[in-house]
Amino acid sequence: MASSKRDKADYYTLKARSEGYPARSIYKLEEINQNFRIIKPGDSVLDVGASPGSWTLYTDRELIKGRGRIVSVDLNPLNLRCVPPTVIFFQGDAFSKEIRAKLIELGPYDAIISDAAPMTTGIRTVDTSRSENLAEEVVHLSEEHLKTHGNLVIKIFQGGGEERILKRMRELFYKARAFKPKASRDDSFELFLIGLDKK
Ligand SMILES: C[S@@+](CC[C@H](N)C(=O)[O-])C[C@H]1O[C@@H](n2cnc3c(N)ncnc32)[C@H](O)[C@@H]1O
Repeated sequence: MASSKRDKADYYTLKARSEGYPARSIYKLEEINQNFRIIKPGDSVLDVGASPGSWTLYTDRELIKGRGRIVSVDLNPLNLRCVPPTVIFFQGDAFSKEIRAKLIELGPYDAIISDAAPMTTGIRTVDTSRSENLAEEVVHLSEEHLKTHGNLVIKIFQGGGEERILKRMRELFYKARAFKPKASRDDSFELFLIGLDKK
């Protein structure tokens, strides 16, 4: 197992490569699902900020197990050798009028998972505020288009209003909490907000 920060990055990156995933982020979703059982076989899942495609591929292979549907959306294309038949991909801004309408048309969803992150500028206040906006958009989407008893995962940069968003999630879900996966880089200020069992 990894010992230093750099080793840890290498460990997860190499592991992802050897298992056929385009990004090390797969291990964050794996850890989240092991802890909270977000997705089960046959579910309909919306994956926001899906490129290059590790979460989408892992969801197909290990969580819905080739059954159900994954609607994936990103500003950038997926980078998968083979896009599984369960996946419908849209390229564009998930919250633009046009793409949002398409996502809604294919819902409602059993789970909404968002690893969406803004292009970072290095200016912490700008980055956290952009991340907060994305997280808020995903919460809005889940208010109407996540099924009752559905689950939600949202990435947010710490310092980006996570307490306020968590408070809203506690109103919408029977359980809501913040989670920092071990697979997150030590120097990353990302956090995942988990909403379980929508009211
Ligand atoms: C950390 S990456 C996601 C990695 C992905 N979960 C995986 O496992 O391969 C964050 C992604 O969020 C996307 N993103 C940011 N804002 C977005 C938006 N408004 N609509 C769609 N995608 C967005 C970025 O283009 C970027 O690809």
